[in-house]
Amino acid sequence: MNRKSLDNPSDNSLSRVDGAVKVTGTATYSAEYVVPELAHAVLVTSTIAKGSITAIESQEAEAAPGVLAVISHLNAIEVPGWPARKQPAERAPVGTAFRVFYDPLIYFDGQPVAMVVAGTREQAVHAASLVRVTYRKEIHQTHFEKNTSKAGIPLNVQRAKNSPFQDYARGDAAALTNAEVRIEAEYTIPTQHHQPLEPHAIIAVWEADDKLTVYDKNQGVKSAQGQLAQAFKLPREKVQVVATYIGGAFGSGIRVWPHTMAAVMAAKQVKRPVKLVLGREQMFTSVGYRPYTVQKLTLGASKTGQLAGIMHEGTGQTSAYEEHLERTVLASRALYASAYAATRYRLLPLDVNTPTWMRGPGDATGMFALESAMDELAFALKMDPLEFRLKNYAESDPERNLPWSAKSLRECYELGAEKFGWKNRMQEPRSVKRGGMLLGSGMASSLYGFHRHPSKARALMQADGSVIVQSATMDIGPGTGTAMTRIAAKVLGVNAKKIRFELGHSALPDAPGQNGSSTIPSVGSAVHVVCEALKSKLVTLAGEMSERFRSGGQPVVRNGQVFSSGEDKEGINYSDILKYHQLKELEVTEESKSGAERDQYSMYSFGCHFVEVEVDPLTGEVRVTRVVTCADVGTIINYKTARSQSIGGVVGGIGMALMEHSAMDHRFGRYVTNDFASYHIPVHADVPPIEVYYIDKPDVHVNPIGSKGLGEIAIVGVAGAIANAVFHATGKRVRELPITPDKLI
Ligand code: MOS
Repeated sequence: MNRKSLDNPSDNSLSRVDGAVKVTGTATYSAEYVVPELAHAVLVTSTIAKGSITAIESQEAEAAPGVLAVISHLNAIEVPGWPARKQPAERAPVGTAFRVFYDPLIYFDGQPVAMVVAGTREQAVHAASLVRVTYRKEIHQTHFEKNTSKAGIPLNVQRAKNSPFQDYARGDAAALTNAEVRIEAEYTIPTQHHQPLEPHAIIAVWEADDKLTVYDKNQGVKSAQGQLAQAFKLPREKVQVVATYIGGAFGSGIRVWPHTMAAVMAAKQVKRPVKLVLGREQMFTSVGYRPYTVQKLTLGASKTGQLAGIMHEGTGQTSAYEEHLERTVLASRALYASAYAATRYRLLPLDVNTPTWMRGPGDATGMFALESAMDELAFALKMDPLEFRLKNYAESDPERNLPWSAKSLRECYELGAEKFGWKNRMQEPRSVKRGGMLLGSGMASSLYGFHRHPSKARALMQADGSVIVQSATMDIGPGTGTAMTRIAAKVLGVNAKKIRFELGHSALPDAPGQNGSSTIPSVGSAVHVVCEALKSKLVTLAGEMSERFRSGGQPVVRNGQVFSSGEDKEGINYSDILKYHQLKELEVTEESKSGAERDQYSMYSFGCHFVEVEVDPLTGEVRVTRVVTCADVGTIINYKTARSQSIGGVVGGIGMALMEHSAMDHRFGRYVTNDFASYHIPVHADVPPIEVYYIDKPDVHVNPIGSKGLGEIAIVGVAGAIANAVFHATGKRVRELPITPDKLI
């Protein structure tokens, strides 16, 4: 692998604090908790996409060995937070989350219609195969292109006074109409599924009917706690949610999904703890997906490459019962300095389950289109695509008319171009060959909004001077505990080995779920602030112990000791401070949140990707052979884990560009790609050396640690850069992902 990008001179990164337990198999994931009396559940799912259940024959299943119950809308418990069931059943108004085992109505294929609970999983699997469900079918609509006339402004947007998803325009539309050079193109991304390697799983445990513990794979223990408490009308503290280790999620765990509710309901009903693990095929209809989206881009520029206008229209798929909104068209308002910019966003409801956020939600979709269109216009202008972007660089936010809190995108472009060797690029498509392969290079910009939510953290110094830091944050893979340990160790001046960071439990101090790249900006700030507070307590307590602190110097901490000043040679150990004051431990809890700066600056993460591809002229096979990715996300907290996130984002982008496609058989409204044999994701052989670079300059306006989000921006733009490289290699512009061989020959 490329050593160069690992040689970061400022790097003294921590390796993952939980690396050893993860690779040795001792980390406990949701399905692995040992709970006495555990029963196993298996879902029976609908085989039609719209209609209603007319009968469920479950006698044979009920009589099968080990079966405790066959649960369906016919016998499921009432969920106290749901309205009483209507007779006859009525379709819920748009905006109602799907209620499992509530009524006989079918909204999508693969919908849970029954659940078998048995002593072992094998018994449940067998019995589930014996359940006979009959339906009254209605005509379903799952085909996007055949239903485009039903797309409209989302009700949520119509009702809201101030929604970012409203139609937007600035400047004079004539600038675009009369532009000297114009392009107009339509881009399609298919439905894509998150596909974490760990499937979603839950163990639900009721005690005494009013105390619930769930070990559930999700991205937000506090929000899951709140949602379950509301559904079962319990005080929050009576519901505890545990999700310490998570084997990837990418957005699939942001909501409490129907299968979670089903397991919790079943545990109550059979009066035993219940475990439910989704099968891979159920992952396609149970936990959301990146929605099928069609976008139209119209761009215009002067002959010299000055953007005259951007029009970005996007329509995303949603379910018939809920509106899922994404930032699809929003980047086009802010990324480039264009006097005229307009966006329109529409939703198309279909008889499918509700989509959800998937890594870089909306932006990854929208930037594929925008950055492809920018490449198309640069080509029409006979201009280098990077030069074209630099020419239209936005020095301040053209949408909000605000200064950026910080923006080093220009430095990203320069660094990325230099490392990639962009300046030697031949502009003409299909002009370079290597070993019989068509060789191409492409680039794209990347941006992602800044999200910071109020977060709490607690720091507990122990008698021996070690520190436990706690927050109900999550780690879906990026290494949250490692980054937080790094922040705490730095503030407290102790070796990272002295810090233990605890997360993933709803009883810990309140923190947002892991989504929107908000964890480091939000929770990282809380950890910084609480450790600062602990430090000043220690300094005060040390001051009471020695004369040296009365000389008016500025006390400092290092090596787990407090010094009266930088020159002081004799420090006081943290453990001695606690001992002197007869303290068993020292506890501080703090909250951190945004202030007025949120309205004074426009806050984004920025970046860019440079990609080289080889295309086989005979088979149309595309190989990504090199990637240089560069991001400006403020301070890099821990280089090693940050780099892994960037690599993961690029790998996700390769999947998005070349492979991922949840294909549906519209006769049945059913996904036919419902396993890893048919839903392709990149494997190691598909992933080239990926060089990762950061600008690593603090953004002083965003938070006390100067750090912005990295997780999502890592994927945003990658698919566009690959598509642009494929065009450069072949002269063929593929506007419909994934770029499979059939589209190139
Ligand atoms: Mo991310 S899609 O907010 O997990």
